[in-house]
Order: sequence, then C-alpha cells, then structure tokens
Amino acid sequence: MRFGEIRLALLGCRGMFATDALPILKAAGFAVYGADLPELDIADESSVEAFLGRANPRVILNAAAFTDVDGAEAKEEEAFSANAKGPEVLARASARRGAFLVHISTDYVFKGDNPEGYEPGDNPGPPASVYGRSKLAGERAIAEVLPRERFLICRTQWLYGTTGKSFPATILKLAASRKSLRVVNDQWGVPTWTRELARQIVLLLNQGATGIHHAVNGGGPVTWYDFAKRIVAEARLDCTVEPCTTAEFPRPAGRPAHAWLRGGPPGAQPWEDGVREYLAARSQ
Ligand SMILES: NC(=O)c1ccc[n+]([C@@H]2O[C@H](COP(=O)([O-])OP(=O)(O)OC[C@H]3O[C@@H](n4cnc5c(N)ncnc54)[C@H](OP(=O)(O)O)[C@@H]3O)[C@@H](O)[C@H]2O)c1
Repeated sequence: MRFGEIRLALLGCRGMFATDALPILKAAGFAVYGADLPELDIADESSVEAFLGRANPRVILNAAAFTDVDGAEAKEEEAFSANAKGPEVLARASARRGAFLVHISTDYVFKGDNPEGYEPGDNPGPPASVYGRSKLAGERAIAEVLPRERFLICRTQWLYGTTGKSFPATILKLAASRKSLRVVNDQWGVPTWTRELARQIVLLLNQGATGIHHAVNGGGPVTWYDFAKRIVAEARLDCTVEPCTTAEFPRPAGRPAHAWLRGGPPGAQPWEDGVREYLAARSQ
C-alpha cells in the first residue's frame, strides 16, 4: 500500500533515524513535513501548534529525543523535557487534531536484567538511567492522553544509521587505525539499522497496528563484541576484536545488560544483513 495522500509530520527530522527514514517514508507515498530544533521544540506547545497548523498532518512521527544517554545523568531536566514532556505535548496535539501519533522508544525503559529478553507486553521499569526513566515517562504520558487505537509506540535498540554518532561508525574509525580493539561482551541486544526500523514502521502503519510494539532487526541477541567483530569482518579491516567487560569501561549512565527486545515482526531483516546494507550505504 502507498500512503499517497497522507500528510506526515516528521519531528526531529535532522536526527540519525529521521534522516535515513525520510526517503523510505517518501517512497511509501507519505507527503512528509519535517521539523527539528531550533525551529521546533516538541516540549513547547505553541511551537508545536504553529508547526502542526502549517503541516496539517494525519500522522505525527516523533523521532525527536534527547539521546545522549551519559549526558542525561547531569541534564535530567533537559532529558525529561524532550523525552517526557515532548511526547505529552505531542499526544495532546494529536488528540486535538485527530492525528495518529507514532513515537520511538527504547529498550532502556526496561531494567535490563532478563536474559530471556522482553516482549512488548512485559512491564517496563525500573530503568537504570535518567535517559531510560525519561523515555518511560514519555511512553506513559502518551498512553494516558491517547486511547490505544490513536498511537503506535515502537521500541527499538542499538540503533545505527548513516549519519551522526553510532557504534558502527566508531568501530570503523578505530579499526582503520588500530591493530586491536577491546569491546564489551556482557551486554546483550540486537543491533537495529535505521532503514529497517523505518521499513517496519511503514509496515506497522500499513497493518493498522496500534499500542506498543518492538521494532528491531531479526536474530540475536548478540553482544557489542559480536556486533563489532561482524562490522570489522564485513568491512575487511585488519584489526583484532577482543572481548572485555562493562566494568572495565565505567560510564556515567547504567546500561541494561539484558534488554533484548523480542517480538519484532516476523520476516524482520536479520541483523547481519543490516550491517551489510549499512556498509553498502556508506560506500555510496
Ligand atoms: N540511537 C540509539 O541507539 C537509539 C536506540 C533506541 C531508541 N532510540 C530512539 O530513537 C529515536 C531516534 O533517535 P536518533 O538516534 O535518531 O536520535 P538523534 O540522532 O539524537 O536525533 C534526535 C533529533 O531530535 C532533536 N531534538 C532533541 N530535542 C528536541 C526537542 N525538544 N524538540 C525537537 N527536536 C529535538 C535533536 O536535535 P539536536 O541534535 O539539536 O539535539 C536531533 O536532531 C529517539 O526516540 C531515541 O530515543 C535511539
């Protein structure tokens, strides 16, 4: 199905996900109207109203967020403004305008101590970080304001894309200049490629899906070490990847060790194919 006549507001349109999603949304036939900071602050109701008044969307896709997980520990207010108040403002705007709200969330809403992973219906929390708490507050605000049939929350994890800071970009840079790398081997998840997430969101919209869904690449769970090894091998770089523990690389924010998101769509692109597609996209 193509969404020829459907106007879609893409918020956070210059971010990593939105940049890669734009051509996929357009190819699906959406008429896309994008906005981002500084011209639009999703936590500011008047700024949201002004933009939505011009765009007049039937679908609002919120890809805007405060995504600096470590930075959020010292910038709690900023993180909650974008990740909790923002979604609440958007949910109220969606309710007023009769627009359908699509929002992207994260595995960080879970505590992350379940080696079996999490299904969409599992109870989230308590998150291990400010970022996780702010994103969970955002999910809850949407579900409080809107009835289930008026929103779609897509939780994803270990997201990487062609622009911005990402794990694969860092690994490729380091592996090109070093003989060996040490990468954490005790956190589990599934690496998710932005274009696959965008394709899954289009598919979910096509199916009329509502409520909370997990949208991740197929396969897994794997560790960051497995992911790094695959990137280096696929890129044919002459660098050895060695495993290490999270404890060896202390970070300001807690990381969920076991937050594998299960229950993605059947037929999801295997994560290894996502890595190949990403590398091909980088070389274009
Ligand atoms: N990256 C991951 O590994 C990952 C994993 C799971 C889930 N997610 C979720 O996926 C979504 C997309 O993430 P991403 O990696 O594409 O993020 P990103 O690259 O950081 O993009 C987010 C965009 O939103 C903008 N923004 C921040 N606060 C805003 C506000 N108050 N109003 C309007 N725009 C604002 C940012 O602008 P500035 O750059 O100027 O701040 C940026 O352009 C987010 O919901 C994130 O929580 C990401």
